[in-house]
Amino acid sequence: MFNTLNRFNTRSAKWDNVKAQFKRDDYLVFSVADSDYPTAEPIIETLKKRVEHGAFGYTKTDDHYFNAICEWFERRYQTTINPSWILPSSKVLSLLSTAIDVYTNQNDQVLIQTPVYHVFFPLVNQNHRTLIENPLCYSDGKYTMDFNDLETSFKNGVKLMVLCNPHNPVGRVWRYDELDSLVRLCKKYDVILLSDEIHADLILDPNRFVTVGNFFNVYKNIIIVHAPSKTFNLAGLHSAYAVIPSSKLRNALKSTLLKRFTLGQNAMAIEALITAYTQCDDWVDAQNKHISDNYKILSSFLIEHYPNSQLAPLEGTYLAWLDFTKYRYSCKEMDSFLINQGIKLSQGSDFGKQCDGFLRMNLAVSKNQLIEGLGRFKKAIPNK
Ligand SMILES: Cc1ncc(COP(=O)(O)O)c(C=O)c1O
Repeated sequence: MFNTLNRFNTRSAKWDNVKAQFKRDDYLVFSVADSDYPTAEPIIETLKKRVEHGAFGYTKTDDHYFNAICEWFERRYQTTINPSWILPSSKVLSLLSTAIDVYTNQNDQVLIQTPVYHVFFPLVNQNHRTLIENPLCYSDGKYTMDFNDLETSFKNGVKLMVLCNPHNPVGRVWRYDELDSLVRLCKKYDVILLSDEIHADLILDPNRFVTVGNFFNVYKNIIIVHAPSKTFNLAGLHSAYAVIPSSKLRNALKSTLLKRFTLGQNAMAIEALITAYTQCDDWVDAQNKHISDNYKILSSFLIEHYPNSQLAPLEGTYLAWLDFTKYRYSCKEMDSFLINQGIKLSQGSDFGKQCDGFLRMNLAVSKNQLIEGLGRFKKAIPNK
């Protein structure tokens, strides 16, 4: 089911953007967060039918669409949401950016927890907000939230926090008690909580995803931004949506989406989302098992060949976080070693200034691709 798909020359941002860096044609890329195997068969069948129909005129999100999302939340996250709370749009990033624009003013403080998905930095800076970092605590290879520092920043005037739940790149699936403490602090200091839950379905046993939707009844200023794109390899379809119970916050975002003509989704995204959320639970479970197996392969490889490296426990996402700082290479050095052997990973320094010497590796690949990649990795990076 999770077999390699050749994505060269398909206008793939991951595979076709980096061609010029390599002196060979058979390079392997483990960077950008999409999957190198096909989506679930029912989604492919639905899209084929839609293509065969032949008309791609204006398309609306109807009850099937909204109910599919609500039932997914109920079934997969045991959380009840109301269809009227959902605002469909295109990308998670455009929804996050619009939300920051709508809910805060120029120079207001917006907080992120670093290391984090690198686009969170321009998301805040390009909106001309003041970026406040709340670095995660890192100890024994594990990451936790620093609530003391968070409270200090909140006291000093943070208006909005962008949470990454689960967290890219450190692989944490935030527990109920952690989110509970976070929401209490947001409530105490009146900080809007904007939760990016794009990785919510990529959860490795025995972890369980907790959506901030669990706290809707405790605190009203919570927004979820979500999409089936990571789970089902649909990022190119632009199928993101926001879930906002507060009518005040929802109407504010909605009127800006309307003003910019960015409320609603394209025909393919709508079809794909409905099928993904109604017919593909087994596929998601199988994929999580596959990612977990790949993680075990990577873990054994690192223990055997790089005993001084540290691999963050992967609770969720398909993005492994490798600490190579004990080998004292910079990210730039590792990148050039790897490129020389025809392989690319993401550089840790992109995710936070404290992460030179770290690498992020995408495990949403076939087992064969991973094993071939690790063979090249071993030739690329000297282990002393
Ligand atoms: C945490 C997180 N948010 C957002 C995105 C991008 O989402 P979109 O392509 O829908 O803007 C990514 C992609 O890697 C991500 O990891």
